[in-house]
Amino acid sequence: MGIYYDEESSLFFIETKSTTMCLAITDKEGFLNNVYYGTKIQRDNLRYLLRTGVSPFVPSVNERDRGSYLDCARFEFPSAGAGDYRPSAVTVTDASGHDASQFLYESHRIYKGKENLYAQQVDGKNVRMPATFEGGGKAETLEITLSEDVLGLKALLSYSVFEDSDAILKNVRLINESDSSVIIEKLLSSNLDLDKGVWDEDGPDVVTLSGTWARERHIDRRNLSRGSVEVYSARGETSHQFQPFMVVCDKDANDSCGKVYAQTLIWSGNFICGSSVDQFDNIRSYIGINPEHFKWDLKPGESFQAPEAVLVYTAQGFDDMSHIFHDLFRDHLIRSSYLHKERPVLINNWEATYFDFDTDKLISIASEAKKCGIEMLVMDDGWFGKRNDDNSSLGDWTVNEEKLPGGIRALSDKLDEMGMKFGIWFEPEMVSPDSDLYRAHPDWAIAVPGRKPCKMRNQYVLDITRSEVRDYVYKCVSDILKSAKISYVKWDMNRQLSDLGSTQFDAESMGRLSYLYTIAVYDLQGRLLEDFPDLLLENCSGGGARYDAGMLFYSPQIWCSDDTDAYERLKIQAGTEMLYPLSTMGAHVSASPNHITGRAMPFDVRGAVALSGTFGYELDITRIPSEERDAISEQVEICHKYGETVREGDYYRIASEEAAQYYDAWMSVHKDKSKAVFTYIQCRAYPNGKGRCIRLKGLDPDADYKILLIGSDREGSFFCSEAKKKAWEALAPGILSGSTLMNAGLIVPLLPGDYAQMMFEIARI
Ligand code: GLA
Repeated sequence: MGIYYDEESSLFFIETKSTTMCLAITDKEGFLNNVYYGTKIQRDNLRYLLRTGVSPFVPSVNERDRGSYLDCARFEFPSAGAGDYRPSAVTVTDASGHDASQFLYESHRIYKGKENLYAQQVDGKNVRMPATFEGGGKAETLEITLSEDVLGLKALLSYSVFEDSDAILKNVRLINESDSSVIIEKLLSSNLDLDKGVWDEDGPDVVTLSGTWARERHIDRRNLSRGSVEVYSARGETSHQFQPFMVVCDKDANDSCGKVYAQTLIWSGNFICGSSVDQFDNIRSYIGINPEHFKWDLKPGESFQAPEAVLVYTAQGFDDMSHIFHDLFRDHLIRSSYLHKERPVLINNWEATYFDFDTDKLISIASEAKKCGIEMLVMDDGWFGKRNDDNSSLGDWTVNEEKLPGGIRALSDKLDEMGMKFGIWFEPEMVSPDSDLYRAHPDWAIAVPGRKPCKMRNQYVLDITRSEVRDYVYKCVSDILKSAKISYVKWDMNRQLSDLGSTQFDAESMGRLSYLYTIAVYDLQGRLLEDFPDLLLENCSGGGARYDAGMLFYSPQIWCSDDTDAYERLKIQAGTEMLYPLSTMGAHVSASPNHITGRAMPFDVRGAVALSGTFGYELDITRIPSEERDAISEQVEICHKYGETVREGDYYRIASEEAAQYYDAWMSVHKDKSKAVFTYIQCRAYPNGKGRCIRLKGLDPDADYKILLIGSDREGSFFCSEAKKKAWEALAPGILSGSTLMNAGLIVPLLPGDYAQMMFEIARI
């Protein structure tokens, strides 16, 4: 890995372990172009790929050709209004209202390491932005300065690589060196122009993750043809609807093979992420802050930092792409000391009680839970103010002593005596119109004067870009944390931003609000972790609406979805796992029939699906059938036994129910290939069939492995019934080599009935 500049050819080579990106500066003008991104190649003279001698690529021979050049060359930082009609990466308007710009190469520097990114809050305070950091793997960075001489602007484009990763990290900073303000209308973090020639005639596919509440991050695939495909959020959070993630890949790319170009953004607010195909079949992929609800008046001497983008290329399909993202996030983004630690198995009272609980109820849940090996009780929404439903009290973070006599301290002391950890729910960014806080400070809510702001879940959003509001919110949370023994916080955000207005911005700077809101969230969570370094933080947003790489900088785990139906979770988790490590994915066993779908599902299947995330329970343990309660300790044991493989290993998709029709399967394999956990879910019974042959992945072909059906070695196992044991024993192959398991496959018996699970330990001997 490394970054090299060849003086003679004016070429930059940005190299990772297996990829090369090559940037070139054009001779006469100094445009910065991308001439190659793909599998690692020699540092040859790639200037021929600029094709500046051939129409329509000739830049300056005559004006007509120059026009088409601007509209088809592979620019790294395409600007609007000066002859490139494709989506721009930067649009600025000057004081006289003109919006043309053109950024040309000025200088560069290459340095060891990687610098932190900072944004400036309204009070002038520098807030660190989430971004990858060096960690254990050395980094190298190329910073290219482009200059817009007419406007007096500089754009600093940074590219970083790590010695242990195949990802390329990009970010952009815009600096105003002129003596008048400009308006940044749009500033994306990454633009990647690719030649259509990389693909066969029928062109590439595009993969995104999309959904809605309770159906987050389903994998969505379609062909990319002329025009644009774009996913986005203008909701002030990454959203249930789309992820800042797009893959452009071979039409026949699959989990194991095919060229894959993927991008994501380390950001938790509004974004756009798209790919468009132009008249010459060039592909332009881009990602960055959504220009909708954004405008930045960049004053003389000021600079603006766009968030960091992650680019991944592999020729080995989606599994390899996922491994690159997972390793990057685990090794260079998640800072929490819990990252490699076993997380406490928790029980959360939300689906158990909703708002209807008191100390006695919580203690009765906790004491049953404790008997089963559960380690932490999380008290969810409803412990403060007068909150007995979702109509009131957000903002009034004082404990409701009617529910919790003696306060949180009394509860946490009791739990502590029982040997249970304690966690608590907050929704710090919000205010209920029916709250003391709102009655005292109605202007603290984000709103447009003269317009009644839209309520969502009966609440408004606090304007945490204001430092007094932010300080109030912070004090509320930290006072509670200081008042008792609290190990864990679930930080929720249950509505989107709308009616964007803040009393502290004038007309010129109102467009800063949505960006600074996200920065304010980062500031709050950053402060929290500094003051409470041992706190385990789990982010949440009405389920998984803020499941993004930005949040992973603060919390090592994120609540995946309010939908805990194990069948629905197959789709949600498969999409989530495409991008995010399993160690980040909040997954709990809930009651059956499921509260959202009404679907009934066996307890062991609910367990098997949740065991591939950060494990816990979300049910009233005092009221579930006794055989289910008895089954919990076995599930907790399984979690402890295989948790490390799931948390630290490589994840492989084996089959998705949508494609395989009747079943779903996946694996986690230890990095050293010594152990794997293979989960097989039979979704529907299959009449008159035979056992399924499943080819495993990721094992050492030359090693021998022993296969254990998890639970089959345990007397009276609930996880593995006698019937299942028998069905497996008839097929159990004994010891097999990795090469046999990966090529000839493993036979999984057909089981009677819908919804059945089999989890296997595959251990090297
Ligand atoms: C959101 C969360 C849930 C729960 C409720 C409480 O919907 O996703 O897990 O915490 O809020 O109001």
